[in-house]
Amino acid sequence: MKLTRRQVLTTGAALALLPRRAFAAMPELVAAESRQQIAPEGYPDTAIWSYGGGTPGPEIRVAQGDRVSRRLVNKLPQPTAVHWHGIRIDNAMDGVPGLTQEAVPQGGSFEYDFQVPDAGTYWYHSHNRSMEQVARGLYGPLIVGEPQAPDIDRDIVLMLDDWRLDPETATIDGNFDNGHDLSHAGRFGNLFTVNGRFDPAFEVKNGERLRLRLVNAANARVLEVGLDGLEGWIVALDGMPLEAPLVVSGAFSLAPAQRADLFVDVTAESGAAASLLSIERDGGFGLCRFDVGGQAAQARRGVPEALPPNPLPEIGDLAAAPLHEMRLQGGAMRWLDRALLGETEMGGRELAQLGKFWALNGRADRPEAPFLDAARGSLHRIAFVNETGFDHGMHLHGHHFRLIGANGEPGPWRDTVLVPPGETRQIALAADNPGKWLLHCHMLGHAMSGMTSWFRVT
Ligand code: C2O
Ligand code: CU
Repeated sequence: MKLTRRQVLTTGAALALLPRRAFAAMPELVAAESRQQIAPEGYPDTAIWSYGGGTPGPEIRVAQGDRVSRRLVNKLPQPTAVHWHGIRIDNAMDGVPGLTQEAVPQGGSFEYDFQVPDAGTYWYHSHNRSMEQVARGLYGPLIVGEPQAPDIDRDIVLMLDDWRLDPETATIDGNFDNGHDLSHAGRFGNLFTVNGRFDPAFEVKNGERLRLRLVNAANARVLEVGLDGLEGWIVALDGMPLEAPLVVSGAFSLAPAQRADLFVDVTAESGAAASLLSIERDGGFGLCRFDVGGQAAQARRGVPEALPPNPLPEIGDLAAAPLHEMRLQGGAMRWLDRALLGETEMGGRELAQLGKFWALNGRADRPEAPFLDAARGSLHRIAFVNETGFDHGMHLHGHHFRLIGANGEPGPWRDTVLVPPGETRQIALAADNPGKWLLHCHMLGHAMSGMTSWFRVT
């Protein structure tokens, strides 16, 4: 086609109005099948699904306030979508099929382009059939740097996962829909990995201060994390700085999707090894090693300063905020009596036949109407009442919230709260990000079998 002079001029004028970045090719994030040595040496490698050829996917590291732009290219045998977990994001970029976008079909692509308002440790993962896609390896770290680099020697991202592999062939157990996992704690693995590898080692020096960015990428397992040969503080949870660093003494729990940033000093001597531990009832074992060689140049530092705060909303008068109860129901031992699935009320047995074992306030799966319809800028309290026999890690999209302590005072900012069986956790939510936001259990099998809802901010 030949352009007339007039068409050339109009096109030229239109182009001039486009933002500059539209001209730069968007970097790709290719989701595809690949292979990786997941099991220890001596075992075969494992067929996985990955971003950029490996699991975890490529580390995306930007400065606070920057944009992240990636064209997701789907070469998987299933439709997919990427969710940027913990980012207070533009709703259209949140990556939830059926709510914020259509799932990207096989061979299709989708352009994600958004600003990151907060510094901290975040992650990205598939949000389509995530029970399966995350378990096959579709996740990676998203790290947002503080405007001023903190005083540390090394910054190490540690993505923790457990894989369910065949003990002979090291292939991923493909039975994702089995009712036993769905109706109990979820899919637990039989092999722990850090950054997609079994028991990796990092080289450090005695006296060095490390920033460890822990991400629990497991489908269902709540980790109890401990330190050996390392001493330090938790400085941030779910990306958000604590007002004051919290000394690590003993184990602390990290539920699926939760993050903890630690500043730790290497106290193990040169020639020895330090480790990150998973503490179990009958002892514990190392998740990864830090081989200590040599001495840090400077003397051991004092207590670290808190990280600079992120631009989070003010939490106003909590007592005046409406309280919304969300009852977590169902699962093995407390089987659902009945619940609504869409507009249809069904008995527990019927629901189980459809693979639905859990409900939130009597509704299985994301209902038509939102759990909460919030005016932009309004403050709410949500009480998660766990009536089931299992742990649930409740996650809100697009927002962080403050966990309300036993004293009624607002505590740390989080995006995922662990609610133990029989207990209640209350949160304060300043609904300031407009859009349709998912609210679900991050035990991915629970989310798939009923524990998904949503809220709207307008
Ligand atoms: Cu980490 Cu709805 O997700
Ligand atoms: Cu759950």
